[in-house]
Amino acid sequence: MDAIDVIRTKRDGGALSAEQIDWVIDAYTRGAVAEEQMSALAMAILLNGMERSEVARWTEAMIASGERMEWSALDRPTTDKHSTGGVGDKITLPLAPLVAACGAAVPQLSGRGLGHTGGTLDKLESIPGWRAALSPAEMLDVLRGTGAVVCAAGSGLAPADRKLYALRDVTGTVESIPLIASSIMSKKIAEGTGALVLDVKVGSGAFMKTVERARELAETMVAIGTDHGLKTVALLTAMDRPLGRAVGNALEVAESVEVLAGGGPADVVELTVTLAREMLSAAGIAGPDPADALRDGSAMDVWRRMISAQGGDPDAPLPAAPETHVVTAPATGTLTRLDAYGVGVAAWRLGAGRARKEDPVSFGAGVTCHAAPGEHVTAGQPLLTLHADDPDRFDRALAALDGAVEIDGPSGLLPLVIDRVT
Ligand code: URA
Repeated sequence: MDAIDVIRTKRDGGALSAEQIDWVIDAYTRGAVAEEQMSALAMAILLNGMERSEVARWTEAMIASGERMEWSALDRPTTDKHSTGGVGDKITLPLAPLVAACGAAVPQLSGRGLGHTGGTLDKLESIPGWRAALSPAEMLDVLRGTGAVVCAAGSGLAPADRKLYALRDVTGTVESIPLIASSIMSKKIAEGTGALVLDVKVGSGAFMKTVERARELAETMVAIGTDHGLKTVALLTAMDRPLGRAVGNALEVAESVEVLAGGGPADVVELTVTLAREMLSAAGIAGPDPADALRDGSAMDVWRRMISAQGGDPDAPLPAAPETHVVTAPATGTLTRLDAYGVGVAAWRLGAGRARKEDPVSFGAGVTCHAAPGEHVTAGQPLLTLHADDPDRFDRALAALDGAVEIDGPSGLLPLVIDRVT
């Protein structure tokens, strides 16, 4: 087989055969297909798309490029959630211990943030001592002891995706639904979870800017999961404004702990409980109500044990940025827009995110929102607090917020949960 023939097939609008897909993924992982050839193929896929059978085979080949985890040693059903990423999306932090407190096991492999969206591992690493890298044996130990584990994927899990995602990132080929769907699902299927709930974000702060694109991505991922015998459900949820009030690593951990203590912003609580119900139902667990486990402290109990089991101190003070800058409301009225993308880019420029994979993040940096869209604000009241290690960062963050705030403008917020795809 020849890489040029595979590229030509897709370039000319054809469907790749199973043999072509298996060969190209294997050869690329081994280094026998050059980066420039894979980049041409990724662009041809982005432009010409893939049929359902091609996406399924592509996903299969990426899973087969590495190891597959399995959790049959556990005495509880496994269930997991994956979010396509957004601004202030800290839901995994309260959700994993909550679902464990209700009787399921949650083996979650998470990622780091890149660009304006945050990453779960960066958030958890703001807890002093907490460790993201666990061996499969350590993962099993934490799962047995606490019911939930959130850690980094090892290099042996879907290595074809690891290589291809890095290539897509620098060749303008991230925004392809078949490539995004196969990338996410290959990792989740290789992770070995028994059930999966996908939180597909929609809006300015998300990959998918429209409900139509998000629905197409959700349907593609649900089809891949179903074809693999994995019980998969997707929710389309709003990312036109930030989720909750905190955006930034330690700020989001603090907000998650508030939710686990029975408080926290209403949207974070609602989405956490909704996703928990979906995860439990997908795992075949009926009975426990996640809202009770937030109220009675049992989810908090699992959180504390889960953090301690990975070396973290749940009682240690979280890092705080030394510099702050307050943005005030420009007028009195109803806050009709607080744009997720603008706030996400501001938090990123303040140091909460990274521009390149190897960059460090600031744990204390980010944005606190003092009002949410739909609320009444008074001219001059604090609207946002920017947090940074270095005051030189404020100007560029403020530039990102230009046009992000609107008072008494047209209303048109997306509902928090837009749709459910099965
Ligand atoms: N997240 C992934 O893991 N892969 C993609 O392609 C996009 C988002």
